[in-house]
Amino acid sequence: MQDTLRPNRWSQLLAWAIASLFILGFFFSRIGTWTGPISGVWFVGTQKPRRGFLWMLAFYFIPSLLIGWRKFPLSGPGPAFHYLGMTLLVSVLGILPFTFHRLVSPRLPGLLSTLPFPLAVVAFKILISPPLHIAAAPSATIPLFLISWFAATLIWMWNREFKTARIALAALPFAAAYALAAYGFFHRLNAALLPASLPIATAFAWVCLAGAIALSIFAILNAGKHLTWAERPQTVALLQSPATGNPLHVVTEGGRETLLSSSGERFPIRNGIPTFLKPEDLTGDNGKYNHLYQVIGGFYDDTQRIFIALKGFNRDAYFRSYMSLLEVKPGDSVLETSVGTGLNFKYLPRSVKLSGLDLSPEMLVNCQANLRRWEMNADLYLGNAESLPFTDSSFDVVFHVGGINFFNDRAKAIREMIRVAKPGSLLLIADETEKHVKGVYEKGPGGYLYKNRKAPVSAPVDLVPPEMLEIHLEIGRTGEWYMLTFRKPLQALE
Ligand SMILES: C[S@@+](CC[C@H](N)C(=O)[O-])C[C@H]1O[C@@H](n2cnc3c(N)ncnc32)[C@H](O)[C@@H]1O
Repeated sequence: MQDTLRPNRWSQLLAWAIASLFILGFFFSRIGTWTGPISGVWFVGTQKPRRGFLWMLAFYFIPSLLIGWRKFPLSGPGPAFHYLGMTLLVSVLGILPFTFHRLVSPRLPGLLSTLPFPLAVVAFKILISPPLHIAAAPSATIPLFLISWFAATLIWMWNREFKTARIALAALPFAAAYALAAYGFFHRLNAALLPASLPIATAFAWVCLAGAIALSIFAILNAGKHLTWAERPQTVALLQSPATGNPLHVVTEGGRETLLSSSGERFPIRNGIPTFLKPEDLTGDNGKYNHLYQVIGGFYDDTQRIFIALKGFNRDAYFRSYMSLLEVKPGDSVLETSVGTGLNFKYLPRSVKLSGLDLSPEMLVNCQANLRRWEMNADLYLGNAESLPFTDSSFDVVFHVGGINFFNDRAKAIREMIRVAKPGSLLLIADETEKHVKGVYEKGPGGYLYKNRKAPVSAPVDLVPPEMLEIHLEIGRTGEWYMLTFRKPLQALE
């Protein structure tokens, strides 16, 4: 296992080559034509729709304004406002297909989910822009469609880690399309068709518009039915108030579900996630780092993935190096505290019942999106790992990865993990070592958060109660993370 954690120079080289291509795309339009839509579909896909739209608007509008500043006539406010207005309109119309894709695509199955973007791009460019006098003649419909479809498909494959056979099959026509496009084939084809191209392009654009509308209707009807909490009595039976320990039950008020305790405490369920957070949960270090996760939630998976690829490491081997330490049997109930975006769930058998708790709503929203993508189910909770909303001995397996170093109260979080684990079960705590925090986190864009810490991070071996059995600490091969396991004794603890 440890050997697979050696960097592979070839995959590292490939990762750097691809990254360079994307950087070059900002400076050379021939490359940017391809990499721009890919980056856009990716970026907007990582964000909540409104935030993605506004950021893209800023990325689009400000450079457009700067590039065209010469056109900014100083001959009076009228033309200036006209120019500003038109630039804004062009920017909005340029971005709407990305937002449309962000809204519709997650609700569509398989390859169908790659189509909203290219359909919307063609419909917007060919049908909506010319009447507003903000686009050139529709002379490049086919390349436009294919370049956009290529971008959406590549991101679809990226989100599935290029892993299934169907994906490999889908990749082939796009690889061929890319190769042909590289030789200007589509432009030549378009030029050949040009005399008759206007009516053809317009007809094609109408077909695209009809397709986009059809997909939107399909997405609305296919919104997906989630189990309500009233339909999960066995799960609710394991819940308790993190403050008083009183049992909870579900009530529905005004069409919304809430968890209510016998003493009248209320815990709302928002977007299918019971919310146990209290203001004091977000004080101290918990609050400080929560802010970070709220900002990076959408990028968390991809930055980690890109970082590992640029270092040439095998990501699966990294996850398996600690997930393989768990003792998981088919049908087990498994809890991850600080589940984040759910990346570790992929390394568990499909037959287990998954639960995850986290302090950050943004991380949980992305966890829900990941679970939909991987066709997995899990009960998710918004709460503090230092006071869990579960009854004693609820889970066969309890583990934690990657957050505890910076908890307000690590000892309390460990005691809580032990409390909710069934007697005899093995618990796992894994996190980065001081070497990683110093070498990577402190040097990254969020480095200021990690500097001036009270003490260096350390594996919390001393915080594991002495009654625990088989306490074992292992340091990962590169010395950058630790894995601490211990067993809860079979007999009840005092
Ligand atoms: C580095 S991420 C790890 C996510 C996931 N376990 C993984 O391995 O990909 C750390 C997570 O810990 C969560 N977290 C931080 N403090 C927490 C607390 N007191 N209770 C619950 N979760 C917390 C953050 O919101 C974040 O999602």
